[in-house]
Amino acid sequence: MEDLLRCVQGDITGMEVDAIVNAANNSLLGGGGVDGAIHQAAGPGLLAACRLLGGCPTGEARLTDGYLLPARYVIHTVGPVWQGGGEGEPELLAACYRNSLELAVSRGVASIAFPAISCGVYGYPLEAACILAVGELRAWLSGRPHGLREVRLVAFDARALDAYRRAIEA
Ligand code: APR
Repeated sequence: MEDLLRCVQGDITGMEVDAIVNAANNSLLGGGGVDGAIHQAAGPGLLAACRLLGGCPTGEARLTDGYLLPARYVIHTVGPVWQGGGEGEPELLAACYRNSLELAVSRGVASIAFPAISCGVYGYPLEAACILAVGELRAWLSGRPHGLREVRLVAFDARALDAYRRAIEA
């Protein structure tokens, strides 16, 4: 299978892909980090749409339009808060990637960009999260027809880019 995975460094809000993934919280009412950046770039329409969704359980994903973003859709997913690794965090993080892809493909998305879900405020160890993300994405992509042409892993800094590169090249 030609590897659809790419890692890049940059700000996910400016990326010209069909869908960007937001590392949200259970309320879906915005926050800091990438969540704050996406809401700021998308404008108030995004929050208005999120209010109607009634929140999102950890590990699940919800889709909205992208409003003022270049991306057509935002897929909001809620990663686990790192509590040491024994509270089902890996399984929940894997579910974020799987559920986001399922939702994207159900809307005919051909290109999608992910931030490093849970690796900021939620404290998930970066290297472990990148290895998990690459493994989970590759497993899902090889398991069924999907129509995706590009899956972009977005690093916000050089350390994250290096972690993604090592996970992809391993
Ligand atoms: N573009 C791409 N990546 C970004 C951007 C951006 N503009 N801003 C931050 N990041 C990166 C961070 O460097 C980190 O690697 O996104 C990753 C996820 O970090 P957070 O945004 O803190 O998300 P998370 O750790 O999942 O915590 C979620 O933070 O912002 C709140 O409302 C959010 O409560 C939720 C919590």
